[in-house]
Amino acid sequence: MLDSLTRRAFMRAATITLAALALPGRAQAEAPALGCDILIVGSGAAGLRCALECLQRAPKLSTVVVSKGMVSRCATCMAAGGMNAVLGMTDGDSFERHLFDTVKGGDYLVDQTLTHAFCAEAPKAIRELDYWGMPFTRTQDGFVKARPFGGSSCIRTHYCKDKTGHFLSHTLLDAALSVGVKLLMDHELLDIGVDAGRLDGVVLRNLRTGEIAPLSCRCLVLATGGYTRIFWNRTSTPFGASGDGIAAALRCGLSFCDAEMLQFHPTGVLHGGTLISEASRAAGAYLINAKGERFMQRYAPQRMELGPRDIIARGIETEILEGRGFGSGDESYVLLDMRHLDRKKVTIGLPQIVHLAKLFENTDILREPLKIRPTAHYSMGGIGVAKWQTMETEIAGIFTCGEASCVSLHGANRLGGNSLTDTVVTGKWAGQGASERARELLLGPGKKAAELAAAWRERFREVTAGQGTAHAMYALREQLGQTLWYNLGIFRNETQLAHLEGVLDDLCQRYGKLRVPNANPVYNTAFTDYVELGNLLLLARCAALAARGRKESRGAHWRTDFPKRDDEHFLTHSVVRLGAGDSLNLSWKKVDVAFYPPKERKY
Ligand code: FUM
Repeated sequence: MLDSLTRRAFMRAATITLAALALPGRAQAEAPALGCDILIVGSGAAGLRCALECLQRAPKLSTVVVSKGMVSRCATCMAAGGMNAVLGMTDGDSFERHLFDTVKGGDYLVDQTLTHAFCAEAPKAIRELDYWGMPFTRTQDGFVKARPFGGSSCIRTHYCKDKTGHFLSHTLLDAALSVGVKLLMDHELLDIGVDAGRLDGVVLRNLRTGEIAPLSCRCLVLATGGYTRIFWNRTSTPFGASGDGIAAALRCGLSFCDAEMLQFHPTGVLHGGTLISEASRAAGAYLINAKGERFMQRYAPQRMELGPRDIIARGIETEILEGRGFGSGDESYVLLDMRHLDRKKVTIGLPQIVHLAKLFENTDILREPLKIRPTAHYSMGGIGVAKWQTMETEIAGIFTCGEASCVSLHGANRLGGNSLTDTVVTGKWAGQGASERARELLLGPGKKAAELAAAWRERFREVTAGQGTAHAMYALREQLGQTLWYNLGIFRNETQLAHLEGVLDDLCQRYGKLRVPNANPVYNTAFTDYVELGNLLLLARCAALAARGRKESRGAHWRTDFPKRDDEHFLTHSVVRLGAGDSLNLSWKKVDVAFYPPKERKY
């Protein structure tokens, strides 16, 4: 009896197959025979929070969450240190102050009206999570505890040890299971059908069987995360986070905004780029160069190791470039020193940091400093949003939330602790929007989605038919990551970006000729890698184009040939669209400066 009440049993009951989405009377060859009311692609915190809102507001509508892998394996877990919100526990703090810190941290590329609403909503989001049972670290009086975090002028980052994202995604999964969420796991999004400006359906590939199927929905929510995997060999995000939703959005006519704004988190482990949370520096860790100096004195003398991420990452790379780092080339690094910290506080309060240091660098962080280097961590850019209150895009019925979206909340540099709050606030907004819209819209006829599905089946046949080596594909992916790190990295300039464009053209041509040496449809992970690589190449081209167009330095986008911020010409968001024949078009959109006009940024 008790067996049926385990979490595994709830998960099993929630897990569906495509067959469960059969639509009565829709079995014609040219239209999808499958469908649901609201389809959410992505099962990180944003997707799950959105699903929860849809199920609570519209329990009679069918809401399905699609994920490429196991539901809780998502990039959410990579944000470890906490969630920003003003809960009224720090004297002098206010949500206006949270707003100002976010605007300043984002180097004034933040759209301020919606960010004001975000900061006002944030405390409620934390209280909801507390109610759903999120195991927050607490004060002795039982209040949700906060730690200081980079770029914030008050202590407002609420946390669960150093695993906040992990606990957040599991709390939301449990809450979503309790209201009857349906989970379609091991399915990847290939494309979105849009016909005459109207959402028509999506194309999914079942990774287990290889089946490629069109599926109708009234509303689609893209919660597929960011695209920092373009850097491949130096990123903290999981392998599967390849920006599939953003790439599919571009292909169906939507915009990709602020593509050049890629965040480098200062402290990734040297080998592999996995994140060592900012929680280490919140606890008092130092950054040390080869001369034994706490070099942040040079770059953020007031905030030191708790400055904003763009400034610290540049500080580390400058130390390395000017010969004050350790090692050389790809093996260059500085040190994160925690030896002076209280042993018990570190082992109990920061268990994941202790574990990751040991796992990746064989370092006992309490006895020796850890080798670190910045790692690509977050995409401030993403799918353009037409109405932030509902997170709806320019195409009625298509919504986006979390890191996949660019609602311009983080501007040119996100503050640590704002991303997890973003997932639950924008996830909720998208859920409100989709559950309302789904009552008005009909299921798309599915003709376009069916055509796209047929084209993907043909592509699978063609790509897996010829002679090819897996090596060619992975070599191309490796070259993409390396080239981006050296030309679209923490520092960029015209020469590098022009060179990058040439390399990307060449990589795209080579990609077009790739063949996957495995025609077996069942768990053909090489084909998944092939699809992801195509998406990463497209997104890398967009980021390079926008970076070349933005002839100034702002936040994470630092051009050595234009080292100043230029508010006269670039207080604007970049907007990239896909044109005919795979061409890209770049335009610009004004920033909403409703409260705080741009000022010099000092820390
Ligand atoms: O360092 C960290 O714990 C990361 C947090 C975040 O990206 O918000």
